[in-house]
Amino acid sequence: AFNLRNRNFLKLLDFTPREIQHLLELSADLKKAKYNGYEQPRLTGKNIALIFEKTSTRTRCAFEVAAFDQGAKVTYLGPSGSQIGHKESMKDTARVLGRMYDGIEYRGFGQTIVEELGQYAGVPVWNGLTTEFHPTQILADFLTMQEHGRGKALNEISFAYLGDAQNNMGNSLMVGAAKMGMDIRLVAPKAFWPEEVLVTQCLEIAKETGAKITLTESVQEGVQGCDFLYTDVWVSMGEAKEAWAERINLMLPYQVNMEMIKATGNPQTKFMHCLPAFHGEDTTVGKGLAKEYPMLAEGVEVTNEVIESKYSIVFDEAENRMHTIKAIMVATLGC
Ligand code: CP
Ligand code: NVA
Repeated sequence: AFNLRNRNFLKLLDFTPREIQHLLELSADLKKAKYNGYEQPRLTGKNIALIFEKTSTRTRCAFEVAAFDQGAKVTYLGPSGSQIGHKESMKDTARVLGRMYDGIEYRGFGQTIVEELGQYAGVPVWNGLTTEFHPTQILADFLTMQEHGRGKALNEISFAYLGDAQNNMGNSLMVGAAKMGMDIRLVAPKAFWPEEVLVTQCLEIAKETGAKITLTESVQEGVQGCDFLYTDVWVSMGEAKEAWAERINLMLPYQVNMEMIKATGNPQTKFMHCLPAFHGEDTTVGKGLAKEYPMLAEGVEVTNEVIESKYSIVFDEAENRMHTIKAIMVATLGC
């Protein structure tokens, strides 16, 4: 009934709720099989290219481990070293790699680039993050929500996404929530709400699925009763460093701290973050920010206290990147 063979995975807008549900079920099955030692390799003999024009820890490792578990081989093309971008167009790159590889992952800048790759490669292309969307992350997030949702189905779950709601995470979570009939609150300064065109599109989807989409500047209103609080960095990869200075004061009220956890009024609420997170001073970025902005010493978009607390499920979430990416590859390429 669900044949995703040879499909690209470029954005959730391209998939029906049932197809997304199917990928989540396949992820859970593959996770169970790996845990219990009966995983069957379904990608034996496949060659997979991993293109990263931006840096990565989770996404790259998830693709590699998932491919190895399933019997495939990978080639990693990092931000420098290939001809992509400076010497060769994406259209030509797509046609070259499509002759050698059975599937291609791409992380980079504009969504139009990965769409072009997907159009010309002739093999499945998977979006490992663009400026606009991060669809593989959403599958991991929804699987994690199901696991921690105390038996709730996705359409019974409410969550708030705080901070920069105009980036790839804000956009993709909104699309995912709309598709799966969830109650999402995008809690951010108005200047950082998702583009109106995308909001309108999601509201249309919500009419069909029963999703509830709220955009608000009010933390109190936004987090009320939420099952999950979700945040992401205030300045994304590829954005100018100067953005920090412009954003910090605007974003500070949306920092996820213990006070905000309490403001949900839900003692069972859980904290999520796609990671990497800036909290505390244990990264060079964190150190630099804390030095320049003393109010960020305890954390930036989330405090150290919250990340380390019993509310935090960020490492379960990170692990699920692997199981869900595996499901995407198996569904589009597997035998
Ligand atoms: N969440 C995520 O995409 O992490 P990486 O940037 O480490 O891949
Ligand atoms: N919004 C972040 C997500 C990182 C996984 C970025 O694009 O840098």
